[in-house]
Amino acid sequence: MTNAPTLPDGVGWTAVLVAAQRAAESLSGAPAFRDPLAEAIVVHLGLAGPGEQPRFDAMPGDMAGLTTMMGDLVVLRTLHNDRVITESGVEQVVLLGAGLDGRAYRLPGAGRIFELDLAPGLALKEEAARAAGLQTLMRRTAVPADLAGDWASALLAAGFDPSRPTAWIGEGLTIYLDRSELDGLLTRVRDLSAPGSRLCLEIASRFDAGLADEEVADNGTRRLETLLREGPPIPPHDWLIDHGWSARHHTLVELGERHGREVTRWFDADRGGATLWMFTSSPLPRPGS
Ligand SMILES: C[S@@+](CC[C@H](N)C(=O)[O-])C[C@H]1O[C@@H](n2cnc3c(N)ncnc32)[C@H](O)[C@@H]1O
Repeated sequence: MTNAPTLPDGVGWTAVLVAAQRAAESLSGAPAFRDPLAEAIVVHLGLAGPGEQPRFDAMPGDMAGLTTMMGDLVVLRTLHNDRVITESGVEQVVLLGAGLDGRAYRLPGAGRIFELDLAPGLALKEEAARAAGLQTLMRRTAVPADLAGDWASALLAAGFDPSRPTAWIGEGLTIYLDRSELDGLLTRVRDLSAPGSRLCLEIASRFDAGLADEEVADNGTRRLETLLREGPPIPPHDWLIDHGWSARHHTLVELGERHGREVTRWFDADRGGATLWMFTSSPLPRPGS
């Protein structure tokens, strides 16, 4: 690994990694989606020339090993949650931990999209979009806020309308939060959800230590372990229900079958890997209502 680009303080390499994975898909021979923002990000950070595949080995901290372990995880969750957003007919989307997500620049439609994350990542995204001359396709509002704190006031002040159905998208987020922070997040999201809303959360069980038997897996799993906070209880189904959400889901393996994509053994429980659930939860009626 040579000449790793410097990231602004407060922007994590994992947010760049998943954007680079979307760029790699976007620039592949037969892309399942195009993501112009992801392509712009990797160019902006010097990880690729225009139209070129990103160099994962130019990223520090075992990112290349993590990429190999993840396989098509990011592609599959993108396809799945895009489908939820378009098929549910919601008028608002809220990205919880938006990172460098490019939906505002690629999903057509007249809807609003609110991006909740810490300020530096939102600013980096705007710089990259500006440099590439990209226009948003949805009405985008960046909401700098800490999801472990009072993010809801900032969202409401930014124009979020709790009377409208909303798709809440939490991709690659739950590993960064402790249980009490996640409890608060789920409760607040439920309070702000009109009927017809959806909560799309990605939650994975822990790896079996026996899988760390190859150099690439070892690097990737070690890297992942450094990121993990307490996260949700595993399995998370009852926890979701207790917080007022249904537990409808697909596993990553099921999504791989649906889209004709291979899932790596690290995310396939039948091959000793973790289970990764993509939840598409709906608000449950409140007791007594
Ligand atoms: C792995 S990235 C995923 C980003 C994006 N969802 C995607 O899939 O491209 C995780 C994101 O969660 C954000 N995040 C983590 N903890 C947060 C917190 N307490 N408040 C706001 N954002 C947070 C990080 O800043 C980062 O952008």
